[in-house]
Amino acid sequence: MIREAVVTIGGRRSRYLEAGSGWPVVLLHAFPLNADMWRPQLERVPDGWRYVAPDLGGFGPGAGARDEPVTMADLAADVGALLDVLAIDQAVIGGLSMGGYVTLALFRAARGRFSGIILADTRPQADTEEGRAGRRTMLDVVREGGPAAVIDQMLPKLLGDTSRRERPAVEAEVRRMATANPASGIAGAIHAMMGRPDSTDLLAKMSCPALVLVGEEDTLTPPADAEAMQRLLPRSRLVILPHAGHLSNLETPDAFASALADFTSSFM
Ligand code: MLT
Repeated sequence: MIREAVVTIGGRRSRYLEAGSGWPVVLLHAFPLNADMWRPQLERVPDGWRYVAPDLGGFGPGAGARDEPVTMADLAADVGALLDVLAIDQAVIGGLSMGGYVTLALFRAARGRFSGIILADTRPQADTEEGRAGRRTMLDVVREGGPAAVIDQMLPKLLGDTSRRERPAVEAEVRRMATANPASGIAGAIHAMMGRPDSTDLLAKMSCPALVLVGEEDTLTPPADAEAMQRLLPRSRLVILPHAGHLSNLETPDAFASALADFTSSFM
């Protein structure tokens, strides 16, 4: 059963989902989605584990507006504050795409919190100049057309070929999540992503077990990039998920959840 709760972090309403009980695993969502993205994995939480999925700052239904500009370190600090509220000192912490960027920022600030790390469909590098130019265009899109215009533009890249052909329900769910978020949260995250530092140097310092996951059909952060990232992580394993694109946990939820459970079972 998935529980939904709201706490106040930094004076702002902040929602999180959780399921199971035991050792904590914290799952951070992609852009421009929210914690609902992790429902398929929360529904499959293995015995002995507690999965916690927060809305990142400014995201989620009813989230309070944040002042721009927001940094990746701000988003990570909110996650750290939630863990304090939940009295979680240490956890397996990970995220998908932007959730991975936040994970890396949290590791930079508080590596003692990590008993394990999950990096799914993400990258350690900062944005390129071309990438930043694309973000500036996306800021105009969200200002003029709101979350619906952002997701219209992004959807073709977020889902793999198989999902676009055979899984219309995934596309509808992604659209529903994106449009439930306030435009201000989306704009704040764009600022955070375009200003984030390169985190490649952190990978060699990750002495905890690490899981790298990637959809075989991910064109935004492709398998070759995941392989390169995994080679820099001292205690890591790589899982490539067949028939999944960038939003691999939504596109192949069983395979993603099994890979998570296999990884966490190596801890107990
Ligand atoms: C995401 O899925 O979170 C985004 O594709 C991340 C990004 O735009 O860099």
